[in-house]
Amino acid sequence: MIIFDQILPIVTEVLNDHHSVVDQLDWLLINRDLNGRIRLILPESIETDDGLRPRFEDIYRTLGERIAPHAFPAEHGILYEANKDIALQSAASRPLEGFKKVWVVDRLATEGKWAPITPETKGPPRVVFFSIKGGVGRSTALAATAWTLAEAGKRVLVFDLDLESPGLSSSLLSPDRQPAHGITDWLVEDLVNNAEMMLENMIATSGLSQDGEIFVVPAHGADPGEYISKLGRVWMPKVCDEGRREPWSARLLRLISNLEERICPDVVLIDSRAGIDEVASSCVTDLGATLLLLFALEGSQTWNGYRILFEHWQRAHVAQDIRERLKIVAALVPETERPTYLEQLREHSYGVFIDTLYDEIAPPPSDAVGPVDDGGGRTWRVDQIVEGWNFDEADEGAPHHPWPVYWHRSFAGLRSLQGRLLVIDAEEVRSIFGPLIRGVIDTLDMGAGHV
Ligand SMILES: Nc1ncnc2c1ncn2[C@@H]1O[C@H](COP(=O)(O)OP(=O)(O)OP(=O)(O)O)[C@@H](O)[C@H]1O
Ligand SMILES: [Mg+2]
Repeated sequence: MIIFDQILPIVTEVLNDHHSVVDQLDWLLINRDLNGRIRLILPESIETDDGLRPRFEDIYRTLGERIAPHAFPAEHGILYEANKDIALQSAASRPLEGFKKVWVVDRLATEGKWAPITPETKGPPRVVFFSIKGGVGRSTALAATAWTLAEAGKRVLVFDLDLESPGLSSSLLSPDRQPAHGITDWLVEDLVNNAEMMLENMIATSGLSQDGEIFVVPAHGADPGEYISKLGRVWMPKVCDEGRREPWSARLLRLISNLEERICPDVVLIDSRAGIDEVASSCVTDLGATLLLLFALEGSQTWNGYRILFEHWQRAHVAQDIRERLKIVAALVPETERPTYLEQLREHSYGVFIDTLYDEIAPPPSDAVGPVDDGGGRTWRVDQIVEGWNFDEADEGAPHHPWPVYWHRSFAGLRSLQGRLLVIDAEEVRSIFGPLIRGVIDTLDMGAGHV
């Protein structure tokens, strides 16, 4: 019996057997519906083309027999559309390997597609804090970064987008400073064009910093209200009067841009949800992040998770759009045997990046003469080293090479991070979060030299 993962390899095989026929089309969509069943969508002109139409009916029949039960009865297996973009209907699509004019269209039950990747923002830099596993100190590190940047005189805008388990705002705001509304309120009101009034009352300033300012946009307001009912609606697309459909992540991006214009921050910090989740997908791929911090605990669960994500980007041909913005953060690095722990983490991180996101460096041709060290331990003739986006395992500037955040007992099991940050000093922050914060400042070229 054929299973889901075998569908596309078989489609590729069958179409390859008919490459010359397929090449005669302007476009061809392989539509995989919500149940994982395949249809072909062809340009309308083919329906009346007595030469090509029967050829594609034959192709679908062959395909249907091979991928059953993931096919329709042959007479329902082909659809015709005037226009490719209408047929796509904003679903995720990607080119089929080996074909120039064939795209796979995946209709998903969720909006979280993890591809394509929104280009980097041209406004103030946005830094997303993401992790595959929860509870790794993401929000704490974000709060410490916000605190340090504000102490250096920066205007920092923070979004709590961990909507399903909000908490960051209470780390940065005392209860009396919580604003009336939050991101969920805005997203729900926006559906009925009622969100403008929210903007005045969804940002609060944190009293933690003396010099700069931390502006916090919480997931919900001081009174969460019917939070669960609102949460169930935040990822609704908005259908405008002209029938145009605006996906929820585009709405979120509109909110972020709007607040950036109001606040004029030097930097925007976004606390994402953990895991391969719908809201996280938006934070990582749709918000035009400048820098994506991928928090990692050493262990197979972390690396398997990142591998799944990176392979998805590779398959969707979007790896090049995102890989230069990634950086691994070694989370909660234990107090004992730090060098060994970090070495292992770096080795496993490198393994995943080299298998998925880094370009392969072609092996030296057989007539290579040398030896010349390419800096990566290989000895080739210089003119035979093929250029590519690749790094040495020990290269500190590489995305796989972690910025560590150290486990420290003063942060473990805290009752109130807000209380902790009120009494913290710069030296303490530096000793725990220093490499991460320094890395963020240098990468964004923020010139907070004395931090
Ligand atoms: N550097 C640290 N050293 C020790 N404990 C820490 C450190 N950072 C955070 N913690 C503790 O670890 C726990 C989880 O931290 P935090 O809430 O920041 O993680 P998170 O990754 O944001 O979690 P979630 O996925 O639930 O949002 C908290 O009890 C926090 O006090
Ligand atoms: Mg958190």
